[in-house]
Amino acid sequence: MAAEMTLVKPISNVTPKFGSPRMGSYSKFSTIRMSATATPPPSTSTKPSKKANKNVIKESLLTPRFYTTDFDEMETLFNTEINKNLNQEEFEALLQEFKTDYNQTHFVRNKEFKEAADKLEGPLRQIFVEFLERSCTAEFSGFLLYKELGRRLKKTNPVVAEIFSLMSRDEARHAGFLNKGLSDFNLALDLGFLTKARKYPFFKPKFIFYASYLSEKNWVLEIHNHIRTPPGQPRVSMFPIFKYFENWCQDENRHGDFFSALMKAQPQFLNDWKAKLWSRFFCLSVYVTMYLNDCQRTDFYEGIGLNTKEFDMHVIIETNRTTARIFPAVLDVENPEFKRKLDRMVEINQKILAIGESDDLQLVKNLKRIPLVAALVSELLAAYLMPPIESGSVDLAEFEPQLVY
Ligand SMILES: [Fe+2]
Ligand SMILES: [Fe+2]
Repeated sequence: MAAEMTLVKPISNVTPKFGSPRMGSYSKFSTIRMSATATPPPSTSTKPSKKANKNVIKESLLTPRFYTTDFDEMETLFNTEINKNLNQEEFEALLQEFKTDYNQTHFVRNKEFKEAADKLEGPLRQIFVEFLERSCTAEFSGFLLYKELGRRLKKTNPVVAEIFSLMSRDEARHAGFLNKGLSDFNLALDLGFLTKARKYPFFKPKFIFYASYLSEKNWVLEIHNHIRTPPGQPRVSMFPIFKYFENWCQDENRHGDFFSALMKAQPQFLNDWKAKLWSRFFCLSVYVTMYLNDCQRTDFYEGIGLNTKEFDMHVIIETNRTTARIFPAVLDVENPEFKRKLDRMVEINQKILAIGESDDLQLVKNLKRIPLVAALVSELLAAYLMPPIESGSVDLAEFEPQLVY
């Protein structure tokens, strides 16, 4: 998973362009066109109708995206002749882990999926479908990027290249599993179409590292929290997909550990003032994106027995603590002022969304949005400029990153 970092536009000419044209997700049933070894799910008891409902993902600033990068620079970074910091022994060990493929037979569906989907009704059904669509797109985004990196680095660094290929295997499997989850709702994302139709914003390699590391670790914690039992509440069992999350977490955690090893091999991306500024920027982007997204879907989280804001703050704090082991600076998310700022952003975002849904003329809508967007930007800036926490050290990074609980 590598695509949750979507919100804020950094001030640089190499940064991704947001607000890309609307794209559709075909709802016509189609096979996922992925060449990695996605586990073919067994047939379910109910065959989906060929005439599936049309379904279009609402594209917004918060929608997961696909990315591309400077593959030539990547080749230089992973050339063992040029970069003496590459710890090939560590990469070999990681490769063996990936080759073991612990979850080869994990993502197998059963008839509970269709039965659970049929029982889901009303807004919760819609929100759950959106959750599947967004997660599937994000997983598929990781698949595309890792697959290309696996291909491009083959000559320069076969070990690193193979790890990328095996990570793309995992992401393909996750995306395929989520897409099959959509088929229970008579929907499917046409991933082949998405691959061709979507724009691929450009991210420099160092930004790919920051964003992917954060996304992988954040995703681990997010999905892990879905299956945690909130104090005093029965274990969540709204949908059978949550039963698969524990092993899923292990996959994503391995991905995060790999990015941690990659960054240790590139100390130039971690040890100067620019790295500190970018680290804080990427943290803020991931946290705000998640918080605003989830606060738009409180019914979903409350439907599975979680308090949205508490749940998100928990994930943000844990992600931040994990990230602090490798990033040179992180945000002070445990300062109550940080949460107050996030809450104000949610309020502003809700007002912006309400304007979009009103019957006003487009020009009037745009005019009404101006002060709100300015307020949102000012909150973002204030959160970014809060005194940070100095953290991480390439020297001190000799640890085995692991799930924090
Ligand atoms: Fe994944
Ligand atoms: Fe991943």
